[in-house]
Amino acid sequence: MAEALRIGIAGLGTVGASVVRILSEKAGELARQCGRPIEVVAVSARDRKRERGVTLGQAEWFDDPVELAKAKGIDVFVELIGGEDGAARASVRAALEAGRHVVTANKALLARHGLALAEIAEKKGVLLNYEAAVAGGIPVIKTMREALAGNEATRIFGILNGTCNYILTRMEAEGLSFDECLRDAQRLGYAEADPTFDIEGHDTAHKLAILTSLAFGCRISAADIYMEGISNISQADIRAAGDLGYRIKLLGVAQKTESGIEQRVHPTMVPTASVIAQVHGVTNAVAIETDILGELLLSGPGAGGNATASAVIGDIADIAKSRPGFQHGPVFGRPAKELAPYRKARMRAHAGGYFIRLTVHDRIGVFAAIARRMADNDISLESIVQHAGLVQVAGQKTVILVTHETTEAAIRRAVEGVTKDGHLVDKPQMIRIERAG
Ligand code: HSE
Repeated sequence: MAEALRIGIAGLGTVGASVVRILSEKAGELARQCGRPIEVVAVSARDRKRERGVTLGQAEWFDDPVELAKAKGIDVFVELIGGEDGAARASVRAALEAGRHVVTANKALLARHGLALAEIAEKKGVLLNYEAAVAGGIPVIKTMREALAGNEATRIFGILNGTCNYILTRMEAEGLSFDECLRDAQRLGYAEADPTFDIEGHDTAHKLAILTSLAFGCRISAADIYMEGISNISQADIRAAGDLGYRIKLLGVAQKTESGIEQRVHPTMVPTASVIAQVHGVTNAVAIETDILGELLLSGPGAGGNATASAVIGDIADIAKSRPGFQHGPVFGRPAKELAPYRKARMRAHAGGYFIRLTVHDRIGVFAAIARRMADNDISLESIVQHAGLVQVAGQKTVILVTHETTEAAIRRAVEGVTKDGHLVDKPQMIRIERAG
């Protein structure tokens, strides 16, 4: 059997510990599949003494991940530290510059610095694999980089954050509070170190930025993503959505429009009967629409130690199987230098249907005033209903509007107008509706 592939792992949190454990438990099977053993020869983490429930064996300990990244005795540097800058960025750069292959689960790093890192990897002729960075265990990067060659994508959308999907699912199914569900997601190891990254949409945005580059052959541009999280989704929204035949999901959506590429992350109404609406709990899903294949939907475990470790190990195995002169293609599906500049579509030009929930004073003329504001902005209403059972306060009513396709600019003007009319008791709620099969 060929010589062992020598791995250095930086970061021994939930994912790192799972990677070490699985590499040891599956050592024989992996060696047979790859034609060579895979050995963890060095590790680095913040706290040397912490109990992780795994045996580190003879692995050499490095206090500094950058030193580990450059160490002569490793072939592959596995970065599981996290964070877009700091030790993660410095060590990945150092590893690539030193001619080591890199495997990372770090979406924030790739979303911000992916292009520069890809250029170094391609110049040095090493692999930069990042399957675990997007949608946990779902092999979406492999699918897009390899299986969909020749396909031209038109839209890509997905449930990319397990924590948010877990929270929304439990809020709907069990009527639990947002905070209770978030605490459970943290306890189960789904959430980021700072859970605002999950619930305010940053994590989804980082993953979407990577998918957008792969889908449309453009440079990554996380800064151009429109973003809203789920922290203001209430039981009232969830119940009203259900009554209207929709379910609320935090989606990341990228699509080509006439004015450029739209990238947006926000709570979204999807038809209850659609496939993506059936994706529950920590499960992620990615729908890719292309000219040749049509619509492909991948779904699977999106967060947690094992799901993420599965993708990391797949990336390591790819490197173990590669040979000089027979490696996989460029980092983002085409050479970094050939990625097109990102052309951003304006969010105000976004076209789609909208759900609007208004809590209003119960008095004569309110419905008429709302309808007038909609008509003044050329918004065609699919329905306008006074929603029973949501507001129990005397003198107040909930009004739900669902629009036909209109623009973001028109909706914003109309809602501003309704607010100015002085009929609202509370902040208006607006949720975009997404076409989904
Ligand atoms: N916090 C992330 C999630 C983990 O909830 O999906 C995987 O990136």
